[in-house]
Amino acid sequence: MSITIPQIGLGTFRLQGQVVIDSVRNGIEVGYRHIDTAQIYGNEVEVGQAMADSGVARDELFVTTKIWIDNLARDKLLPSLKESLRKLRLEQLDLTLIHWPSPNDAVAVEEYMAALAEAKAAGLTKAIGVSNFTNAQLQRAVATIGATEIATQQVEIHPFLQNRKVVEFARNLGIHITAYMPLAYGKVMQEPVLARIAERHNVNPAQVALAWSLQQGFAVIPSSTRRVNLESNMDVRAIALTAEDMTEIATLERNERLANPDGLAPHWD
Ligand SMILES: NC(=O)c1ccc[n+]([C@@H]2O[C@H](COP(=O)([O-])OP(=O)(O)OC[C@H]3O[C@@H](n4cnc5c(N)ncnc54)[C@H](OP(=O)(O)O)[C@@H]3O)[C@@H](O)[C@H]2O)c1
Repeated sequence: MSITIPQIGLGTFRLQGQVVIDSVRNGIEVGYRHIDTAQIYGNEVEVGQAMADSGVARDELFVTTKIWIDNLARDKLLPSLKESLRKLRLEQLDLTLIHWPSPNDAVAVEEYMAALAEAKAAGLTKAIGVSNFTNAQLQRAVATIGATEIATQQVEIHPFLQNRKVVEFARNLGIHITAYMPLAYGKVMQEPVLARIAERHNVNPAQVALAWSLQQGFAVIPSSTRRVNLESNMDVRAIALTAEDMTEIATLERNERLANPDGLAPHWD
């Protein structure tokens, strides 16, 4: 079964306790229906609580979690996903991603992609995908389960890290891209070129950055603890950047990678 990933989702990285409960509650209230969490975020219980309290029907929400590197082995992946479901108070995820490739290939790509496919076959998740994969790792994932089984590759993308090689490679395989940290953790607000474009469209620089991603066909998952930001980040679908705007933003590429943890990050393309 093929699924459609809602273009705009709510990120929850770093958000804990009441902060994440409020962010998800506010997000759902202002119209988000796609929520992105992960086992390692330590907030699946709170995300589950906020979704349950929202009263929004389960089939209207699109929920993603990500398998942490400790749970990649074949005998660990399914039990860990069941534990995520329990915390999130769900019977099935919409999307489950491999959060990071196993450092140093300690567990082989083939092993955890096959286990993830098993989780899908067992009905624990409607769709599966990957995150932070190099092109070589994505190729191995495709060889294991097929490109059509990979619903998305979630990678860091914003105007300062445009990740063109990874985008191109996925595109050639017909694999959808989700842009994480699409606001460069708020840094886009200080960028003069984005500010100028924003002024021309009567929007703010964060909205320009999000529209830039959407216009390339990516899903985006910005996070915010403020209702006003959640609202404006959601209100971007009508923004039509011109070819000139897109060209100007292309010049902002500076290979500025914000998510690059030692011991975890692969050898990036
Ligand atoms: N797969 C992975 O390995 C991975 C890695 C990193 C992130 N992610 C996912 O991607 C999501 C987004 O990344 P992120 O949360 O790190 O960074 P982000 O969404 O790029 O930026 C969030 C930051 O921007 C600020 N912000 C948000 N909207 C704003 C607006 N309209 N105006 C001004 N500032 C604004 C927020 O502050 P306020 O709270 O004050 O609004 C927050 O400090 C994560 O939450 C997570 O779900 C995935």
